[in-house]
Amino acid sequence: MSHIIAPSILSADFANIQRDVEMINKSEADWFHVDIMDGMFVPNISFGFPVVKAIKKHATKPLDVHLMINDPDRYLQAFKDAGADVLTVHLEACTHLHRTIQAIKALGMKAGVAINPHTSVNLLLDVLGDIDLVCVMSVNPGFGGQKFIENTYHKVGALREMIRTTKSNAMIEIDGGVDLNNYRKLIDTGANVLVAGNTVFSAADPSKAIAELKKI
Ligand code: DX5
Ligand code: ZN
Repeated sequence: MSHIIAPSILSADFANIQRDVEMINKSEADWFHVDIMDGMFVPNISFGFPVVKAIKKHATKPLDVHLMINDPDRYLQAFKDAGADVLTVHLEACTHLHRTIQAIKALGMKAGVAINPHTSVNLLLDVLGDIDLVCVMSVNPGFGGQKFIENTYHKVGALREMIRTTKSNAMIEIDGGVDLNNYRKLIDTGANVLVAGNTVFSAADPSKAIAELKKI
């Protein structure tokens, strides 16, 4: 299977959200990446349920919702109702991660776990068989347009090997600083899903930038 491109709505023009959603619908992108920030787990606040619902209303592709919030168990049902297809929580934000994963799946969504740049992939060993996606943060979460952290390659390689030995079906998603210079190496190292905010939305032609990121 070819890799998945998930443009990050965080970098879209919120005054023209329908236009940007339709651009992604028509492009070669596969998913919408939707970043939720609570101002506590990360030092920024993005948007909440009304905006997710507005995106869902126009989107013809799955919503990959990335929760950068403390104690996400409180809102799993609400994100299901808002239209999330993939729901990713941070390992660092969950006291009972296994329970949270089971709750996401029981609601009929794919379950993802994100890890910050300082978090070892080894901490995922005992949940790899339960999850559909690992989101490897390649920047410190909170903002779009940051510089890619090079240690990510090492983590992706180690994670790919863990997935192979545990026979897990989890996809590896890379989030932060993905661009036209690093995306191929990320795929070659084992990534399946690439999130791209700045690379898509600061391009003169965003759908062309998506098509470039799709090239193998
Ligand atoms: C960062 C978010 C990312 C962000 C990526 O905290 O989780 O999804 O939108 O944006 P770029 O691709 O610009 O680094
Ligand atoms: Zn994200």
